[in-house]
This record gives sequence, C-alpha cells and structure tokens, in this order.
Amino acid sequence: MPSEGLNGEVFYPSSEVIEYANIKNWDELNKRASEDYLGFWESMAGELDWFKKWDKVLDDSNKPFYKWYTGGKCNISYNCLDRHVKTFRRNKLALIWEGEKGEFKSMSYYALHRETCKFANILRSMGVKKGDRVTIYMGRIPEIVMAMLACARIGAVHSVVYGGFSVEALHERIEDSQSKVLIVADGAYQRGKIVPLKEIADEALQRAGGIEHVLVVKRTGQEVNMEEGRDMWYHELLKLPIAKGDGFIEETDAEDPLFLLYTSGTTGKPKAIMHTHGGYMVGTYTTLKYVFDIHEEDRFWCAADPGWITGHSYIVYGPLLNGATSFMYEGAPTHPYPNRWWQMIENYGINIFYTAPTAIRGLMRFGDAWVKRHDLSSLRLLGSVGEPINPEAWKWYHKTVGNEKCPIMDTWWQTETGMFMITPMPCVPLKPGSGTKPFPGIEMDIYNEDGKPVKDDEEGFMVIKTPWPSMMRTIYNDPDRYVQQYWSKFPGVYLTGDSARRDKDGYYWVIGRVDDVIKVSGYRLGTAEIESALVSHASVAEAAAIGLPHDVKGNAIHTYVILKSGVNKSEELKEALRQHVGHEVGPIAKPEQIEFVDSLPKTRSGKIMRRVLRAKALGQDPGNLSTLED
Ligand code: PRX
Repeated sequence: MPSEGLNGEVFYPSSEVIEYANIKNWDELNKRASEDYLGFWESMAGELDWFKKWDKVLDDSNKPFYKWYTGGKCNISYNCLDRHVKTFRRNKLALIWEGEKGEFKSMSYYALHRETCKFANILRSMGVKKGDRVTIYMGRIPEIVMAMLACARIGAVHSVVYGGFSVEALHERIEDSQSKVLIVADGAYQRGKIVPLKEIADEALQRAGGIEHVLVVKRTGQEVNMEEGRDMWYHELLKLPIAKGDGFIEETDAEDPLFLLYTSGTTGKPKAIMHTHGGYMVGTYTTLKYVFDIHEEDRFWCAADPGWITGHSYIVYGPLLNGATSFMYEGAPTHPYPNRWWQMIENYGINIFYTAPTAIRGLMRFGDAWVKRHDLSSLRLLGSVGEPINPEAWKWYHKTVGNEKCPIMDTWWQTETGMFMITPMPCVPLKPGSGTKPFPGIEMDIYNEDGKPVKDDEEGFMVIKTPWPSMMRTIYNDPDRYVQQYWSKFPGVYLTGDSARRDKDGYYWVIGRVDDVIKVSGYRLGTAEIESALVSHASVAEAAAIGLPHDVKGNAIHTYVILKSGVNKSEELKEALRQHVGHEVGPIAKPEQIEFVDSLPKTRSGKIMRRVLRAKALGQDPGNLSTLED
C-alpha cells in the first residue's frame, strides 16, 4: 500500500503533512477520548480560562437537557480576546478583512479587544443587560464580529440574522427572540450592488414590536431613514466618553445562553437553536485546533457567512479562541471576476481554506485557468461543509486548488451540534465524499426504522449517542419541540435528520436529509417555509415545495401551486410569485421552478406527499401509495 497520494479512492496524507500535524496519530487520540470522553472534554476545557472552575463536567440528571461544566464561570469573549491580549498575541492579527470593492482592514488582538469593548460599552449604555436578546443584521464586515463578541462580553444573547434574509424572515426572528436592540448596517455590498439592510429592517420593524433601539453601522453610506429616539449611528456614539476601549465583562455561568441561531426545520417557522458560553467554547476551540490543525503562524479563511453556524463557530469563535488569524471577505466569489477568491488566497497568504461544495462546483465551471493564474502554494489544508461533496468536485478542489498536496477536511455537522461531528484530521486517510469518522469522544451510529444498528453499507438514520459540549441546549421558547424533534424517534439518542451509511472501514457516507429540509447551495430551507411564503400571496390557494438535484446548487427548489379560483395562470404570475418568496424569505429561497397544478397528492389526513411529487418529477416509482387520498 503506498504511503501517500490518491490511491484508487483513498488519499493518503504525505509524511510531511503528518509530521507537521498537531495530531499525528488519530487512533491514539480517539482511544483516549473514547475510553473517557468526560476526561477528554475536561482536559480540553482546562486549556481555556475560567473565572471559576466547574463542579461537574456533565450534568445529565435531566436528559435530554444536558448541562456542561456546571458551576463553572467563564466568558467566551474573554477567552477570544482578553486571554490573548495578555500574551505575545497582543500584536498578532486577529482579523484580516477585505471588502468587495477591494478595501482592506486588519486588526490585532489588541485592536479587536478595544473595539469590542467600545461596542459592549455602547450596548450597555443603551440598557442591554445579561440575558437580553440582541438581533444583528449585517453583511460580512468587521463590525459584525465586534457586535457578536460585544454581546457575549456583557452576557447578552445575540441572534444573528443572515444578511441575505428578507423582511418577513427578519421580522419573525426579531419577534420570536423578543430582542430589545437591533444592530444593523445601512447596507451591504454584494455582487457590486447594495443590499439595503436598513430599509429592510425598517419594514420588518413596522411588523415587529419590542425593539427599543436600533444601532446603525455605516458601511455603504447611502441615504437611510433614521427614526428619532430609536435609531442611532454607531460612529456617532463612538465619539462619546461612554465608548471606552476596556472595562466591564460579565462573569457568565457556563450554561448561560450565548446565542440563538434560527434554522429551518420541518414546520413553517424556523426554530431558534440555543447555545451556551461554556460548552460551545470548548467544542469549537477543540475541533478547530485539531481538525484544521491550527498553528501559530496560520492564516485561516472560512468563507462562510457569520449569519450561519459555520461563520459563528469557525470565522468568529473557533479561530479567536485558538488565537489564530481569521480572514473574512465581504462579497461574492465571482466579483468582479471568478478569480477573486484565488487572488485573495495568494495576496494574504492563506494557509487553510474552508468552503462549501456548492461554491466549489460553481467556481469549477469557470475552468482551471482562473485558479492557475495565482500562486496558491501557501495553502496547507482545505475544508468542505454543508452538504455531501461529490467526488468530481472533491478531485478538482484537491488537484486544481490544493495542487494535490492539501488534505480536504470534509466536516459534517449542524447548527444544532455547534461543532464538527464527523470529520477527518490531516493525518487521516481520506475517501472523497466521506467525512471519515466521528470526532474523538463522539459516538455515532446508523439505525434502521426499528432503532437497531444497520449492517455495513446499509442506509439508515444517523444518530449521535454521546452528549458533547457544544450541543444545542434547547429550542428557545419551545423545549417540547426540542425533545420531540431530536430525542423522540429513538429514545436516548440524538436524531440528526440525515440518512447515511457506514462502510467496512467505519467511514460515514452522508446521503442527505430525511425530513422536509432542503439544502440549496448549502443553505438550509424548510419546504414549509417556502410553501407558507407562497400561500401568503393573494393568488395562491395551496402550494408544495420539493428539492430536486441541481448541478451547482446540490438541490433546487421546485414548487407546485394551486391558484385561487378565477386567477389566471401566466408567466408573469410565476415571476411575481418567485419575487414574493424572495421578499418574504430571502433571495436564496426563490423557487427554481413553479408549476401550476389543479391538485396535490395528499394523505387522507391532508398532508402533502412530497415524496410522490419528487418521484414523479424524477420519473421514478412513487412507491407505496396506500395512504394517498386520491
Ligand atoms: O444534511 C447535513 C448537511 O447540512 C445539515 C446541517 O445544516 P446546517 O444546520 O445549516 O449546518 C450547515 C453547516 C454545518 C446536515 O444535517 N451537511 C453539513 N455538512 C455536511 C453535510 N452533509 C454532508 N457532508 C457534510 N460535510
């Protein structure tokens, strides 16, 4: 067996990769962590700073409401900033940022700490206290990082809403979280255009109550409406004496909530996944350290958006907890040309690059020449997340971007898990399309419908059997749904919602969602969200949404619409409906296709049988139709 290179379907890391890696022997670490997973997570927590040490690593007295590091006091923002400012990292770059128009900014740990403190003090002066919710609605600019860290610093709970979401999505999230303050940018640059974030927020605030103050960060400089008494410019407040660059930090309990992040599920309304200071801190710190093998000199680029869990865990918290340099880019990968990302990897000397299969497929379409114009030799590791990576994209990424020397860390995880759950490390042999094995200390399995483990290579429900520190704690405002959705199908184990199989080497192959969640360009959307957006249009009586395979997006949304009687079918109406969904949910949710129909396949209890629609669209056998009404 060769010791390196791609051999058949297995990629063996080179001896240099292994020699350089923090973890040279995965089995050894795995053995240690599996034999005593609490001891493992305890020792990892010990690498961070605590105001008061925990009494207990895991409190499982009220399953499935697990608690970690109970009795401990810590603050994740302190561990991201203050901890480093006291060391040689004080002058190390914490954040490097490039704007879509080409501007550049970099901040040392010292600077990011000061700016975060100013932000925190401004929030405090607005009356934000421990436990208060703050909604953040911005593009990818340094202020979003400061805003998150500032909330955490004072014990407030941030709820970041992705800047690509529209009015209704923002309104729902503000209302559900009962936020007191909204932090918004005037606008965001995206593909050379301006997304009018403040204008969208104004419309959302007409529908949602509860927001006392709106803090507006200037980015694009276009005219915006400022409501007297409610809206304040951040740059104006920065001039006031209250905006001090040091001071107050809340000594939060390990189990105090850190953030809410809304994600799509099986019902119409997105649910707020809740994470806490202590466990989330230990989980993101540990996984980034080992999987992306953080070394002091690294420049790490996670090309996600801070509005998603990937950005929370691996642009903001994970890298800063590790004292690494995190790179963030504001705009689109193809603006103004499809070499934009590769140009920045070269310019900034990025060593570790982490993105999604949909982006890789999208850029692959433009051909190798755009990549080959750039010297990408600084790259050491690559990463993938969000959906299964097809072997063709894997090989292109590996060969053309990574020059056949960078292992690809295909990380499987979820908003709910907070951290990588199935993932290789640089020393692990890879098979394109598989995330390899569960992270050390995580026990997973694949069950059949009866809750029995399936045999090798058989497909089934992927479950997680041991608790882990950065697991979600609950669905905010809906603990019953937390229990019902994740812990009820198979009592005692966490249901991921994904189907998968495991091969004879123990490698996991994730197939996709088994519920009514569609992954479109790596974004998670619920069929019910799209359907309720459609039926909120005056012409629509009923609607059904399904995901169908798409070359670049992975899946695309196809919808079936029954119009109200008397409404005429037309191409203009289809376009109006697409725009309507875009307005209600966000541009990512716009259906690829809308088909007008007279009826929908339903069960006798009235549930739409999306499986039948999918089978029909794909020309497949719809399977058992015994529950079909008509
Ligand atoms: O279906 C899995 C898919 O993304 C889902 C989680 O989506 P979200 O909460 O938005 O988080 C995405 C980023 C962590 C999972 O249930 N998924 C995520 N990563 C992978 C993946 N599917 C296959 N391979 C992956 N590496």
